[in-house]
Amino acid sequence: MVEIKKGMTESEIEEYVNYVLNHMSLEEKVNQMKGKRFIFKVIEDRGVGKRTYDAAGSKRFNIPPFEFTDGPRGVVIPGSTCFPVSMARGASWDLDLEERIGNVIGRETRAHGGNLFGGVCINLLRHPAWGRSQETYGEDPFLIGAFGAALTRGVQKHNVMATAKHYAANSIEKARFKVNVKMDERTLREVYLPHFKRCVEEGCATIMSAYNKFRGKYCGHNDYLLREILKGEWGFRGFVHSDWMDGVKDTVGGVTGGLDVEMPRAKYYKYKKIKNALDKGEITEDMIDGAARRVMRTILNFTTREDTQKYGQDLIGCEEHYKIALEAAEKSMVLIKNDNKIMPLDKNEIKKFAIFGKYASVKNVGDYGSSSVSVKEVSTPLKGIENYLGDSIEIVNCNGKDPVRVKKIAKEVDVSVVVVGLNWRDEGEYIKELKIGGDRDNLSLHDSDIELIKAVASENENCIVVLIGGSAITMEEWKEHVPAILMAWYSGVEGGNALAKILFGDVNPSGKLPFTIPKDPKNLPFFDKNADEIEYGYYHGYTLFDKEGYEPAFAFGYGLSYTSFSYNNLQAKVRDNNVMATVDVKNIGKVAGDEVVQLYIGFEESQIDRPVKLLKGFSRVHLEPHENKTIEIEVPVKNLAWYNPESKVWEIEHIKYTLYMGASSRKRDLLSVQFNI
Ligand code: BGC
Repeated sequence: MVEIKKGMTESEIEEYVNYVLNHMSLEEKVNQMKGKRFIFKVIEDRGVGKRTYDAAGSKRFNIPPFEFTDGPRGVVIPGSTCFPVSMARGASWDLDLEERIGNVIGRETRAHGGNLFGGVCINLLRHPAWGRSQETYGEDPFLIGAFGAALTRGVQKHNVMATAKHYAANSIEKARFKVNVKMDERTLREVYLPHFKRCVEEGCATIMSAYNKFRGKYCGHNDYLLREILKGEWGFRGFVHSDWMDGVKDTVGGVTGGLDVEMPRAKYYKYKKIKNALDKGEITEDMIDGAARRVMRTILNFTTREDTQKYGQDLIGCEEHYKIALEAAEKSMVLIKNDNKIMPLDKNEIKKFAIFGKYASVKNVGDYGSSSVSVKEVSTPLKGIENYLGDSIEIVNCNGKDPVRVKKIAKEVDVSVVVVGLNWRDEGEYIKELKIGGDRDNLSLHDSDIELIKAVASENENCIVVLIGGSAITMEEWKEHVPAILMAWYSGVEGGNALAKILFGDVNPSGKLPFTIPKDPKNLPFFDKNADEIEYGYYHGYTLFDKEGYEPAFAFGYGLSYTSFSYNNLQAKVRDNNVMATVDVKNIGKVAGDEVVQLYIGFEESQIDRPVKLLKGFSRVHLEPHENKTIEIEVPVKNLAWYNPESKVWEIEHIKYTLYMGASSRKRDLLSVQFNI
């Protein structure tokens, strides 16, 4: 008989699991299918989850439980490093950085005694009002998939299992427990699933099912999503677990649907209920064996690796991890407007500096839902600026409530920074019992913020607006009143320090928007936070704007720098089932900077309805002044396929394609060249 030992091969694990299944009682098998929290204290424990949630495992057979902790802003157990939210990280377009963040999360999970990280959140930002926008990476499936895969890689490198969630079509918060999402097959395959498939290909160990219904069936009961597509077509070998607050609605639905584990405790996967369903012939023993097999196989695959001991507590929130949080904040902020190059500020030319707004001096690192990372000390914008300037310049801080005081200060100072935006009351995971979170009712700033911006700008022409939030904020009412706007996101524990370095030019901003900011929200897809049923269309974000010819306020992929880049000599060659694209990018300004080179593909003379263009590659590059680099990006031809719902096959059209490369999704920022397949 095979015994559990370190370094087991896949076939040894399979053999052991076969042996175990032959010797386990039904009750022992059912024990693999549920979390172990007896008291349903999920509400108190959530978010600031004080410890891991354990599930499955068997002492008799020497199989450890899995120990779940959450994210994605960092590990939610107190003390962990709090990173900028995922949406900010999406704006960095830096996959190497995301993998290093995954590394930190993997390490801190292990130091807390966990072995499963449930924070690879890759739902698609269909509409910016979605309350949990901050937990994902943007509006584009290719971008989200690349980031989800990078986080998975980083976490799993530390032999910690990663969960990709919430599978699938989960893009409305308040209605998440009831909404039935409908869509046609192409929309499902081409828009809402590719990022999940990408994470499965990356080897992500587990999948969390979503709360919502898909085509009339709860995602946790959805045999089409779970059995047919995920486990069948994609060959996923890990296990599926439910979301927390009744992600399973009944025993038979969950088991037949292909949901392997009910978390965080058994309500419907209790032994008696399973036994009863078996006796009635509503479920089969094969289904139970299948679920138990997946769970044990996955746990053993990770826990029998050579290096799995608990890491030392000193790793949690250590200096090295904070440095990565700082780097992430620096690389993710997006410079949206910078008229007359008012930024970077020159500290030698400033005597008096004012910082306004309710978020200038408070901790505001995101919502208080399941992704909340509790940290005591945060570098707020004010602290970051004080830290940076020391005593060299007089800094006035004003929350902005008294308009007379606001105007008086604004008049007296050389530069005004206004920090406004959103917090956990405006957007976030919706928890009814705690009266927090939910979707946004409108996409603009609060009236009081708009008044504050206008008041400051009317007295001080050097007015910089710093926006805090997790997705698109519309700016039409005030953007012409100010020379500079910086999207700073919920920027994590080092956010204020990063902000100061950007304002004063120690860091050159390089983030690019991972979503479209509309001028008019009416151009966005229909959104109803209370919907019982909704149809998701094929187009949203930039594909919708491109198709309909809508002019966005700021386009997907857009962001300014303190330097300028020129693009030349775009070329495309098709070789060995790959499109090889090259372009020369030159830094034509005076300071060094990072540029995010984007690659889109357009489909000319297509016989079917296809987007004007789709993101199919990107590369972040550092360039010194006058430096020129040839950027090469390879796109596998298979990535240009469309899903034919009739033949159920991904098909490549033999047509003319346009390759676009450049600085954003705006036509005027892109060079283009055509090629044929
Ligand atoms: C959230 C999940 C989270 C879980 C556990 C749920 O309500 O939707 O994203 O992983 O709680 O914290």
